Amino acid sequence: MPPSTFRPASILVVFGTRPEAIKLFPVVEALKADGRFAVSVCVSAQHRGMLDQVLEVAGIVPDHDLDVMKPDQSLDALTAALLTGLGRVMDAVRPDRVVVQGDTATAMAGALAAYYRKIPVDHVEAGLRSGNIYHPWPEEINRKIIGAMAATHFAPTETAAAALTRENVPPERIHVTGNTVIDALHWVSARIEAQPELAAGLAGLEARFAGKRIVGVTSHRRENFGGGLEAIAEAIRRIAVRPDVALIFPVHPNPNVRAVMNDALTGLGNVALIEPLDYPHFARLLSLAEIMLTDSGGVQEEAPALGKPVLVMRETTERPEGIAAGTAKLVGTDAGRIVTEISTLLDDKAAYEAMARAHNPFGDGHAARRIAEILGNEVGHQA
Ligand code: UD1
Ligand code: UDP
Repeated sequence: MPPSTFRPASILVVFGTRPEAIKLFPVVEALKADGRFAVSVCVSAQHRGMLDQVLEVAGIVPDHDLDVMKPDQSLDALTAALLTGLGRVMDAVRPDRVVVQGDTATAMAGALAAYYRKIPVDHVEAGLRSGNIYHPWPEEINRKIIGAMAATHFAPTETAAAALTRENVPPERIHVTGNTVIDALHWVSARIEAQPELAAGLAGLEARFAGKRIVGVTSHRRENFGGGLEAIAEAIRRIAVRPDVALIFPVHPNPNVRAVMNDALTGLGNVALIEPLDYPHFARLLSLAEIMLTDSGGVQEEAPALGKPVLVMRETTERPEGIAAGTAKLVGTDAGRIVTEISTLLDDKAAYEAMARAHNPFGDGHAARRIAEILGNEVGHQA
């Protein structure tokens, strides 16, 4: 029995984009299930449609919604709106702790607003480093800024924990938990198994591309805007010439991405440019695909867990674990290189099988529970 003076710790969970929502809904659930916490959720809505897709699937109704998304917003305008908006929410809620995830502008501004109020910050997915401040840009610096302020660092892997140790974070502040994206993936896979209709919306494409080998594509990185995206589109055009292949590409709504992909790829018979998929449907695409071609962070984590070879269209990665495990390969953004790498996987069975083995370098699906347990100790209440 808690003593009569017991007061649950007020935890404000802050997020704003699709990947943060996917990686934090298991944490919100774990914290809400634990009587030691009073949980409020604040969404910045840095993303609108793509965030709402996750909120709906996960059944999360935010307590605060800043609705900051504007079309093609600059990083300055976005960051300013986030900092003042999140600060206002913190002044109203006066939380004991603030939880942020990853490396987005929302996470960085949320941590900074909390720091300005001397509220301890808990950083989920801490310690990822590429070592290059322009790849990924601006995420490498966002993550380092958060790391400089965080009270608790939830590192997904030992590699991430080691990066924090190298930056002189005291070891007692670092906890290796696994990545909550694997919790989310397990959750959504179980939901689809119980209710296949949740992911049945791809049936039309599955019929259209019956007998073809599916390549799943996503791309949105700011450092690839311009020439990088054009080269990616060119690679897709060249691969799509093969009659045995079909590419399914849920296109990120960022106008910088849409314009390039629509111009280069509209009307190609073997390419489906589609709207962003909700999480159950994206999980379905991951299972249909023979290969994933992506510059996404989250997809680099999910594909190895499912044993899907993933070709990463980046120069460097802050997620080296998939590369070390052999399921992911860095291919950059040169069109010729991308085509060669995909062709190798399609035509060389041994090369494919060498990559297509399930690994779980990013976690065992119990990260959120660990995070809740550690936070319970941090706030001084025993379970
Ligand atoms: C953001 C994150 C990036 C993360 C990515 C995940 C920053 C600086 N960037 O990049 O780290 O990998 O999300 O997807 O935090 N848009 C819509 N509808 C949506 C979402 C976006 O129309 O649901 C459009 C809007 O025009 C918006 C633009 O995309 O202004 C860019 O969104 P923004 O959040 O600034 O950057 P992303 O490139 O999505
Ligand atoms: N995702 C999704 N629908 C899509 C594309 C991606 O649900 O159409 C999921 C994917 O499973 C992963 C996350 O979104 O969990 C990755 O988000 P994104 O690539 O936008 O951001 P990043 O991970 O690169 O920050």
